[in-house]
Amino acid sequence: MNVEEFIPGKYSEAVEKGSVKWQSPSNIALVKYWGKKPEQIPANPSVSFTLSNCKTITRVDFIKKKTRDKFEFEVFFEGEKKDDFKPKISTFFKRIESYCPFLKEYSFKIYSENTFPHSSGIASSASGMSALALCIMSIEKQLNPSLSAEFFKKKASFLSRLGSGSACRSIEGELVVWGEHEEIKGSSELFGVSYPDEVHENFRNYQDTILLVDKGKKEVSSSVGHDLMHGHPFAEARFKQAGANLANLIPVFAEGNLEKFMEIVENEALSLHAMMMSSRPYFILMKPNTLEIINKIWKFRRQSQLPVCFTLDAGANVHVLYPEKNKTEIFEFIKNELVASCENGQYICDQLGSGAKEIK
Ligand code: PMV
Repeated sequence: MNVEEFIPGKYSEAVEKGSVKWQSPSNIALVKYWGKKPEQIPANPSVSFTLSNCKTITRVDFIKKKTRDKFEFEVFFEGEKKDDFKPKISTFFKRIESYCPFLKEYSFKIYSENTFPHSSGIASSASGMSALALCIMSIEKQLNPSLSAEFFKKKASFLSRLGSGSACRSIEGELVVWGEHEEIKGSSELFGVSYPDEVHENFRNYQDTILLVDKGKKEVSSSVGHDLMHGHPFAEARFKQAGANLANLIPVFAEGNLEKFMEIVENEALSLHAMMMSSRPYFILMKPNTLEIINKIWKFRRQSQLPVCFTLDAGANVHVLYPEKNKTEIFEFIKNELVASCENGQYICDQLGSGAKEIK
C-alpha cells in the first residue's frame, strides 16, 4: 500500500453533527523503535505487546461549521479544559489533513481520560493519539459508510503513526509489528499490523507489571531522542541489530522459548538505553532504583529459575514481563522485593490485550 490510497475521494454522505468514542490501549515494545526518517517512517522495524489496562478513552463531538479556513477544536482532559494540549493536536491535524480533508469542515470537542494515573511517567501518547485517530476514522466512516473494516484499521494505524510513531501499534492486539521486515508478511513502514505468524500459548495473557520508579515528566522527549540517532556513531549497527532481534523472535514466538525471549527483550531494552548514553548530547534515563530492580530480577531469576525479565521504554520505569502460568510466585516476588523501589510504592498490573474498542 502507498500513502495515496489513504487520500479519500468524494464522501458519499453529508453529516451535520455527531459523537464518536473509542478506548485505545498503550503498548510496550519488545524490539524498540528508536530513530526515524521524515514523515514518521521508522529507521528500523519494531514489535510490541498491546496492553490491556493502560488505556485512553476519548470522545469526540463534532458539528459542521460555516467556514473551512482553519481547524476548530477544544480539548478536555479528565474534565478540565486543556489549552496546552492544543499545539500537539494542531500539528497532528495539519499532518493528516490531506488524508482527512473533512477536518476543517467541523468544529470538534475532544474529551479524553486515561485509566492510568496522570504523570505516572507512562507515555500516554500511544494510547492518546491512537484513540483520537480512531475517533477521526469513525467520523470518516459516517461520511463514507462503504469503508471496509480492514481499511479502517489500517488507516487508523496510519493516522496514529503521524501523531506519535509507536501509537500505530496500539490499534490491534496482541503482538503488533511496525516497519518492513522481509520475514514478516504484510509488515509496513506506514502502519502497524497484527503479528501474522504462530504465537505459542506460553505468551497467552503474558503479564506486564509496570513499576513506577520515577513519575516525573520525561527528561528527554522521544522526538529529541529519535533525532539523536541522526549522525549517531552506532546508528547503522543498531538498526541492523533491531532487524536481527525481530527475526530471532519469530521462532521464539512459535516455539514459546522463554529463555531466548528474555535474552532478546532485555538486550533490546539495554541497547535502547545504550543509544541514549552514547549520543551527543548524552543521557542516562535510568535511575538508581531502575538498576536496583534489574539486579534483583536477575538474582531472583538465577535462584528461582522462573521466566521473569524486564524491559524499559525511554524512561526510568521498569516493565516486568512474565507468563501467566507463573503469576503467583513472580507477583509475590515483585511485591516483596521490587515495589519498595517504586516512587510511593506505585505500580500497575497489566497484561497482553486485544487492541482498541469502539464505545457505543
Ligand atoms: O512513539 P514515540 O515517538 O513516542 O517513540 C517511542 C519510543 C520507545 O517507546 C522508546 C520505543 C518504542 O518502540 O515504543
